[in-house]
Amino acid sequence: MKDYNFDDYKNMIEQHLMDFIPEVDHKSITLYEAMKYSLAAGGKRIRPVLLLAACDFCDGNVEEALPYACAIEYIHTYSLIHDDLPCMDDDDLRRGLPTNHKVYGEAMAVLAGDGLLSAAFEAMNRDMLLYFDNPDLLKKRVKASYEISKGAGCRGIVAGQVADIEAENKSSSKELLDYIHLAKTSALIIAAVRAGAYLGNPDSEKLEKLTIFAESLGLAFQIRDDILDVEGSEEEMGKKAGMDSINNKATYPALHGIEASRERLQQLTDTAIGAMEQYYDNAEVFTKLANQLAVRGN
Ligand code: IPE
Ligand code: IPE
Ligand code: MG
Ligand code: MG
Ligand code: MG
Repeated sequence: MKDYNFDDYKNMIEQHLMDFIPEVDHKSITLYEAMKYSLAAGGKRIRPVLLLAACDFCDGNVEEALPYACAIEYIHTYSLIHDDLPCMDDDDLRRGLPTNHKVYGEAMAVLAGDGLLSAAFEAMNRDMLLYFDNPDLLKKRVKASYEISKGAGCRGIVAGQVADIEAENKSSSKELLDYIHLAKTSALIIAAVRAGAYLGNPDSEKLEKLTIFAESLGLAFQIRDDILDVEGSEEEMGKKAGMDSINNKATYPALHGIEASRERLQQLTDTAIGAMEQYYDNAEVFTKLANQLAVRGN
């Protein structure tokens, strides 16, 4: 395990984020520009950092994990571009800039999202091609890519977004709300740590603890996001506040109230940290992050 902190991992991501975006024909340059616009707009890069940190934690090679870390950020960024579309949450501001469709139009925003999602799988598959003569290393990569596909797909983000849209303008059960949040947000965060772990040499206990950590952190992360929508500042968040009540979304504050939401956020943060406690200093990057995300303003 190297002595990297959150910013070290984040800097690696920032330096290499465009490395795995395929070159496009100049006739499709708008596609490239629209994809780059949303990627370069910033973002906290939590998912790719978690992937690199989990890889490191399981004694993997962080540099070799970069195609997978960047792939997960491409998938996350695509999900935000589509989430902001008028047919979804209809948002005008993201990562401090006008949303993708406000700049490039709806059709191009859909396609930029499609391009990013495809680029993620292209990046991972191209990396796997390099390991055909080393089945052990190839196996790690296939497992990582499988975790990422699951988190992105029909039991992950996409399923969560479907349930989120269908729950608009309705009263939802607490169980359904947790399902939405776990699928739309925890699933990709779980994928990040499990993919990172598989790229190293995880024992079954580390995998299990990382999974509990990520599931709780993901739910806590979405609850904080819901709370910020009620009381956060547009300037700090780089996105509009108050959109959930305008769209009549199923959120934690709407269903449980702000106080109970705060309590649940704290409980989940404690659970996440508790899962990693036995690893002491080796898990500091995870425990620190959980504490920071519980009080984040963006
Ligand atoms: C926003 O994710 C969408 C949610 C799952 C709440 P982030 O808060 O990680 O967004 P960026 O990447 O920092 O912009
Ligand atoms: C988004 O949840 C989750 C995604 C998978 C994109 P939100 O719709 O609450 O995210 P924000 O608040 O727009 O970032
Ligand atoms: Mg949404
Ligand atoms: Mg949204
Ligand atoms: Mg939100």
